[in-house]
Order: sequence, then C-alpha cells, then structure tokens
Amino acid sequence: MRQLIAGNWKMNGLTAEAEALAEAIREGVSNAQTPPAADLLLCPPFTAIATVARVLAGSGIAWGAQDCHMSDHGAHTGDVAPGMLRDLGASHVILGHSERRHHHNELDETVREKCVAAMRAGLIPIVCVGESEEQRAAGQEQDVVGWQIKGSLPDGFAGIVAYEPVWAIGTGRSATEEDVAAMHGFVRAELIRQLGEDAGAAIPVLYGGSVNPDNAGAILSLPEVGGALVGGASLKAHDFLSIIHHAETA
Ligand code: PGA
Repeated sequence: MRQLIAGNWKMNGLTAEAEALAEAIREGVSNAQTPPAADLLLCPPFTAIATVARVLAGSGIAWGAQDCHMSDHGAHTGDVAPGMLRDLGASHVILGHSERRHHHNELDETVREKCVAAMRAGLIPIVCVGESEEQRAAGQEQDVVGWQIKGSLPDGFAGIVAYEPVWAIGTGRSATEEDVAAMHGFVRAELIRQLGEDAGAAIPVLYGGSVNPDNAGAILSLPEVGGALVGGASLKAHDFLSIIHHAETA
C-alpha cells in the first residue's frame, strides 16, 4: 500500500498565499529526480480550495477539505456540504479532527454521520482519533481510541484513519516511535476486530502530531504507519517536500 502524505493547512492562508504554497509544492514534486513514492494530498481552508484546485489540476497531487456537513444541502448557515467539495474536485475530507471535537463539540456520532455523507458524495473520509494528555496519563489511550473508532466509523467504512494524540498536535512534541508503533498496532487490531479481517486490514492508518522533516523518516518507517497527516510543517513547502522524500526512502 502506498503511503499518503496529507497536509492539513488548518485556518491558514489567504488565496495568494495558498496559491504560492500549492505552486511551490507542485513544482518541488515535479522537479524531484524521482516521482513521489507516496500519494499526496493538500487540505486548504474552504476559501482556498478552488484556488488550490486550479494549481494542482493535472499534477497528480490531490486536494481535500478539513470538514463537511452531514447533510447534502439545506438550511445550515455557514456549513459546507460534501457534494460542494466534490464539485471543486476534492477527493478527501478530514473529519473529527481533535480541534473540531474540542472546539465545536463534535461527538463520535457527529463524525459518523459526516462520514456517511462524505462517502455518499464520493469523498474519502480521513477520520481522526487520539487521546488527550490526561487520558494517556491515566493509561486510557487504548480505551479512548477504541471507542472513537467504534463510534466514529460507520458500517461499510471505506476511508482512512489518522491516529493523532491530542498532546502531540501543534506542540512540537511528537509521540515516541514506541508509542506510535504500539498505538498503530492497536488501531489495526481494533479495525480488524470491528470491521472484519478484509475491510479492517485495508484501511490506511496515518500518524499525525508534530511530524516534521527530522522525525518523519523514523515515523514513516514504522509498521502499520500508512502515512502522515501534517499540520504546521505542511505550511512550509520545503518542510513538506522533505517529509514527502522520507516516505520515498522509508
Ligand atoms: P501538527 O498538526 O503537525 O501541527 O502537529 C497535525 C494535525 O493537527 O493534523
């Protein structure tokens, strides 16, 4: 299975900045001596998706969004339907990121409903799970992540899971290789237990949380790590390109 390196730009980038960043990444990838060994995805804020789509069209780099609504249309002021994202050529949508779970009170149930709507619209959901610092300190990381998987993934889930320990997001403090390996092994076992042998084994599991050019090589070479969801380092073309290179050499 090819790894996926996904950039989560979060709430960053006016259209001119988004355009420049997408162009720098497209150029960097096409000027590299070898084509990337990983699949690549950029998830800009909603307002920059059309701009990024124009830059990336035909490049082989995919684009997606960071959230969507669970309805196809209707009276939902301020929300964006999954079909609207498909309309812009988006292929993926990040769902249940911890920043949405915490700042917008998204429950597993909400994430599951969004997932169903995204898949119905033809988007590949990237469902984020991960324990908080307190939960890890209490030794509850597997319980928490197991419940999140059970609650957030609908029947027939055909998407991607991202394990992102909350305490590692945006802190510069990524999980240790031992922790990543242990949690990815656990997530894989849980996916197989909950979805069945074939479906559970086929789901890529990304790691996210302070991935940078220095730690990407080690993280991406761990078993059961199907790629990376990169926040801060995806806003710098040079750093993101160097992370991509680690996927190639992993
Ligand atoms: P980070 O963010 O790489 O800045 O830690 C990762 C994420 O939130 O997806």
